[in-house]
Amino acid sequence: MNTRSGFDRLARVYRWMEYFSFGSYLQKCRVFRLGEMASRRRALIYGDGDGRFLSELVRRFPQIEVTAVDASREMLHQAAHRLPSGAHVRVIQADALECNVEDLPGSPFDLIITHFFLDCFSEAEIASLLSHLNAAAAEHALWVVSEFAVPWRNPARLAGKLIIRALYLGFGLLTGLRTRQLPDYGSVMQQTGWILEGRREWLSGLLVSEYWRKEIYR
Ligand SMILES: C[S@@+](CC[C@H](N)C(=O)[O-])C[C@H]1O[C@@H](n2cnc3c(N)ncnc32)[C@H](O)[C@@H]1O
Repeated sequence: MNTRSGFDRLARVYRWMEYFSFGSYLQKCRVFRLGEMASRRRALIYGDGDGRFLSELVRRFPQIEVTAVDASREMLHQAAHRLPSGAHVRVIQADALECNVEDLPGSPFDLIITHFFLDCFSEAEIASLLSHLNAAAAEHALWVVSEFAVPWRNPARLAGKLIIRALYLGFGLLTGLRTRQLPDYGSVMQQTGWILEGRREWLSGLLVSEYWRKEIYR
């Protein structure tokens, strides 16, 4: 079983799994920074899944051009169904780790969005992703990240660790995902010139929305 076919299998039930486990919190986290995306023209979204964020983005800003990359054909299929007519969206089925993002239509991108996507990778994989992505990011590009995180204080810390472990076990079984712990993506981003400008937490720090700006050293 590979990761791509695994996420294909979840595509139709993904939103219900989410509502039963986290209610509306994940979507709150995804849309939290929508207001700051108003001036952006060319967005790259990695692993948006079934497209609930993507459809919100293009409804709110119909002029924005979006390139959406996901390894799962079924997730992209669900996402395409949710799009309003006339949206400027290109969907590309590809493995983000193998995709030459500089050559994608829309590059360079002034907005990059990853919601609950970086947690699918190790730090070494994220470094490899960034080596391509940085070359495809426009000057002063904005990167909006939603992620799980381990809360700082007990008892939320203990509960958070258990929830994250259970999520990795569940996704490992259902999709074949091999990652088993949250990567320190922030350090990798900082090392290549991304600056964290804003952070908001929900559920005592289990969910975070971050807002990064690019100062890339080429
Ligand atoms: C955990 S889901 C997150 C989906 C959505 N962004 C959300 O907020 O719930 C991870 C998504 O990333 C995609 N994905 C996982 N590994 C990938 C890879 N190597 N390349 C491209 N997409 C990938 C999956 O198909 C899935 O749609």
